[in-house]
Amino acid sequence: MSDVLELQDVSVVREGRALVDQVSWSVKEGERWIILGPNGAGKTTLLNVASSYLYPSKGTATILGETLGTPGTDVFELRPRIGMAGIAMADKLPKRQTVLQTVLTAAYGMTAGWQEEYEDVDEQRARAFLDRLGMSAYLDRRFGTLSEGERKRTLIARALMTDPELLLLDEPAAGLDLGGREDLVRRLGRLARDPIAPSMIMVTHHVEEIAPGFTHVLMIRQGKVLAAGPLELELTSRNLSLCFGLPLVVERVGDRWTAQGLPMS
Ligand SMILES: Nc1ncnc2c1ncn2[C@@H]1O[C@H](COP(=O)(O)OP(=O)(O)OP(=O)(O)O)[C@@H](O)[C@H]1O
Ligand SMILES: [Mg+2]
Repeated sequence: MSDVLELQDVSVVREGRALVDQVSWSVKEGERWIILGPNGAGKTTLLNVASSYLYPSKGTATILGETLGTPGTDVFELRPRIGMAGIAMADKLPKRQTVLQTVLTAAYGMTAGWQEEYEDVDEQRARAFLDRLGMSAYLDRRFGTLSEGERKRTLIARALMTDPELLLLDEPAAGLDLGGREDLVRRLGRLARDPIAPSMIMVTHHVEEIAPGFTHVLMIRQGKVLAAGPLELELTSRNLSLCFGLPLVVERVGDRWTAQGLPMS
């Protein structure tokens, strides 16, 4: 069985600086990963490599068995196999399209271009995913009028539309209120535990956003891997403190996580 994602010594260099610095990381089938790291650590850059939209400057990236930049790999065949929901995607989508149209266009690998000849079966799928994300009441609303949380949920439904083998989520809970965050964590937890759901990689800044069902964590700082492995082994106070550069205490509470800074002495 091939890996979902295999990065070997991957660096992304821009203006002489390594944004991602010699990262070796492998994601196996059945694993669901969290990426943690401070602002500017290289999380989104790494996710862009995993989505096949960014080629490494050095090293090799193999996604769903296809190695980027080799003659046998056609990224246009690979991309529909990967679902990506992130802030960058939201900016590319037409604000005037309805929520239903926004999700439906994903079936055709487009960010724009509403056409008349969508299949009924696609529309049913789009409705089902929107329902799963709690967006059934918003089908005819224009995408541009949605709140942050509603937009996030629409983007996840959209990312699921191509039935991806790998789902990449960049800070899906950022900007949500407490209720919205808890609702999203619950929905992601359900997805993460679904045996037929895609492999998942989620970037977050907050351990509170780690849904039950996620299994592994990758911590990065200044483009470098600081820790990688099962959550219960690697999500420690020591690793988190090193990652964010201040003394932190992380605790497991039931099937969730919480972290806070140590009081100043
Ligand atoms: N094209 C580029 N040219 C130069 N620097 C870039 C480029 N793209 C990103 N960077 C820089 O690379 C670093 C990593 O960016 P990235 O977006 O991956 O960080 P991040 O970990 O996702 O941060 P955040 O938590 O703020 O989203 C940042 O310092 C950013 O300014
Ligand atoms: Mg980012």
